[in-house]
Amino acid sequence: MKVREAIYTRRTIRKFRQEPISEDILRELVEAARYAPSASNLQPLKYKLVGAVDAARVFAHVHWARAIAPAGDPKPGEEPTAYILIFADTNIRATGYEMDVGIAAQNITLAALEMGIGSCMMGAIDRAELKAEFSIPAHLELSLVMALGYPAQKPVAVEMASQDAYRYWLTPDGILHVPKRPLDEIIIGD
Ligand SMILES: Cc1cc2nc3c(=O)[nH]c(=O)nc-3n(C[C@H](O)[C@H](O)[C@H](O)COP(=O)(O)O)c2cc1C
Repeated sequence: MKVREAIYTRRTIRKFRQEPISEDILRELVEAARYAPSASNLQPLKYKLVGAVDAARVFAHVHWARAIAPAGDPKPGEEPTAYILIFADTNIRATGYEMDVGIAAQNITLAALEMGIGSCMMGAIDRAELKAEFSIPAHLELSLVMALGYPAQKPVAVEMASQDAYRYWLTPDGILHVPKRPLDEIIIGD
């Protein structure tokens, strides 16, 4: 898969086939994150891998597709089969790590996509509860959760019809439509 094909065809996935993702694959996704750019090359990020056995412990603390809730939630039998929790080690960098997190998350997303694995970046998460659930030490700040699994849906990107029509929607056949602002609207003219 070419990089641009991955970039353009990637969509957030929120419905998954119930096939586990191996520990080796999860480790390889973190390997992709490890090679990401990092401000001052501090590399403050740490990762918790959660496979199928413990996936339900994460599922209880994440929140899906607010714009169309609850229609966009994974239904029973559609849940992610794995997660990668992305933490910032505040002993390495106390603030200003969010861009590192975003870039690492996109590396994970694209590497996963190449392996046929769909993902959802999740910021609407119960941070304190997730840290307690997995006994994460205080100096690790939970920044983002990556939900992972083999896709059971095919969302499509469409041109955004007007300035404020940013909300995604489901058509009656259940296809998620994701509006993107037109190119000429986001390039600042003279
Ligand atoms: C930082 C970040 C946090 C997000 N948090 C959530 C979330 O908590 N729950 C969710 O269902 N989707 C979440 N998303 C996914 C966005 O809703 C999705 O990227 C957006 O609708 C565009 O769709 P696309 O990724 O298919 O292009 C998040 C995305 C980003 C970048």
